Amino acid sequence: MTTPGTAEHPLRVAIVGAGPSGFYAAGHLLKNKQMPELVAQVDMFDRLPTPWGLVRGGVAPDHPKIKSVSRVYEKTAALEGFRFFGNVELGRDISREELREHYHVIIYAFGAETDRKMGIDGEDLPGSWAATEFVAWYNGHPDYRELEFDLSHKRAVVIGNGNVAVDVARMLALTEAELAVTDIADHALDVLRASKLEEIVIVGRRGPAQAAFTTPELLELGELADADIVVDPTEIALDEHSERALDDTDATRKRNLEVMKQYAERTPTGKRKRVILRFLSSPVTIVGEQGVEAIELVRNELRPGDDGSLRAHATDERETLEAGLVFRSIGYRGIPIDSVPFDDRAGTIPNQSGRVLDPDTDAHLPGEYAVGWIKRGPTGVIGTNKKDAQETVDAIVEDVREGRLPDPTDPDPETVVELLNERAPNHVDYSGWQAIDAAEQAAGTAQDRPRVKLTTFEELIAAAVASRDGAGSR
Ligand SMILES: Cc1cc2nc3c(=O)[nH]c(=O)nc-3n(C[C@H](O)[C@H](O)[C@H](O)COP(=O)(O)OP(=O)(O)OC[C@H]3O[C@@H](n4cnc5c(N)ncnc54)[C@H](O)[C@@H]3O)c2cc1C
Ligand SMILES: NC(=O)c1ccc[n+]([C@@H]2O[C@H](COP(=O)([O-])OP(=O)(O)OC[C@H]3O[C@@H](n4cnc5c(N)ncnc54)[C@H](OP(=O)(O)O)[C@@H]3O)[C@@H](O)[C@H]2O)c1
Repeated sequence: MTTPGTAEHPLRVAIVGAGPSGFYAAGHLLKNKQMPELVAQVDMFDRLPTPWGLVRGGVAPDHPKIKSVSRVYEKTAALEGFRFFGNVELGRDISREELREHYHVIIYAFGAETDRKMGIDGEDLPGSWAATEFVAWYNGHPDYRELEFDLSHKRAVVIGNGNVAVDVARMLALTEAELAVTDIADHALDVLRASKLEEIVIVGRRGPAQAAFTTPELLELGELADADIVVDPTEIALDEHSERALDDTDATRKRNLEVMKQYAERTPTGKRKRVILRFLSSPVTIVGEQGVEAIELVRNELRPGDDGSLRAHATDERETLEAGLVFRSIGYRGIPIDSVPFDDRAGTIPNQSGRVLDPDTDAHLPGEYAVGWIKRGPTGVIGTNKKDAQETVDAIVEDVREGRLPDPTDPDPETVVELLNERAPNHVDYSGWQAIDAAEQAAGTAQDRPRVKLTTFEELIAAAVASRDGAGSR
């Protein structure tokens, strides 16, 4: 067995998922601070023809500054030893076993692609959507291109009090002029510009002091061009437990409370839409025959749980809110892929500091690691994934040093390309992505927008293929 990581025997690494966590892991490996002499070759796979994960498919179109983090990932992609293989899906085009044959290390970075369910009657009625679907649709994710959102109703209800709930509400409240300067998918722009919505109600199951959204996002709701923010003062009056816990409440939540107090003092200015914040209410049933007509909510009270955190408990008080649309925004969820170990309860890959564990023995599966949302669950901002990836890469470096990595039977970088040419002839290399990027940006320049997204696999692949001949796999 040869210790990999030298110029003669580079450490061969497969990263599955080209989102922030995958890119931070690639960056930490290709420029390793702990072991600067480490020579690594990173092949990154993504099921989409495009990289950046939720930075392209999740971050709201009106947040271009946040999206510019992709420049950091572009620098990683330019490092010696990096290759990108887009439109290659683990479990469809290549298997875990095949990756083990070709690489010393596999890093799973495939995020949390689905949503959590509320588990209530009526959840599957037309008009009841997961935030994951709406977000992917307005961001031009090719899997969601064909969804049809009927925005001819007056009221939409968004369940959940996280930043995604705020994104969904804001996207529903923005004006055509506010949207038209973004990189929102054209099909979504068409539907949102014709929206008849007048009211978007965001409903939290706990109180204002427990809301998970962050203050800049809350402040944006107060600055919308044609939507008033409405907060009833009684909704933000703290219950006795929240009041008592106030000293221990973190700074963000305290600032949120201040902002909400200011909102409660505002008089609506008669803007075309209203965004209303409601608290201490949980959905019980979504009511309707052919589609969503209303949502029944139950009033909650907060009680301390065994761990001291305040939990929502239903009271007998119920109300029915007429609405034609319901978006559940109660968290994303990882999905099991191929034979990769999966903890169904947590929706993550079982791991210890990033080392993937055998679910039967709890022992580390040599050479297999996880990063990002599939490692720790669907929470945390983009930057959280940097430290998270560092932890995993530190574990990898330790395993290199200790000689714990298995030897792949076929580490030749070219045989992977041959396999993909056979299995996934439409795979997109990095220059293919650059061609897509250039085409989208050129279309955007013509409209004074950052880019006009290509939103079907066919369009994306056609744009990539134009650059393909003789370009290799970089
Ligand atoms: C709606 C939304 C908005 C957000 N907005 C912000 C924000 O404004 N600011 C901020 O800091 N954070 C934001 N976040 C959080 C941030 O996006 C995440 O922390 C981050 O994207 C998680 O990175 P990841 O690499 O673990 O997963 P992801 O970004 O989801 O990347 C996973 C990648 O894996 C790929 N993949 C999945 N399955 C396979 C497979 N079988 N084979 C190959 N590839 C696969 C996917 O296509 C995807 O590209 C937002 C999150 C959401 C959901
Ligand atoms: N602009 C940004 O920086 C930005 C934008 C979008 C997302 N993100 C980040 O991405 C991550 C994911 O965001 P997220 O909004 O999906 O998740 P989140 O922050 O975990 O929020 C989930 C919300 O859903 C609620 N919830 C969970 N189960 C529920 C149920 N059964 N009924 C009613 N409510 C329920 C939670 O309430 P409880 O607290 O009571 O559990 C919480 O309010 C977060 O870390 C977020 O900060 C950041």
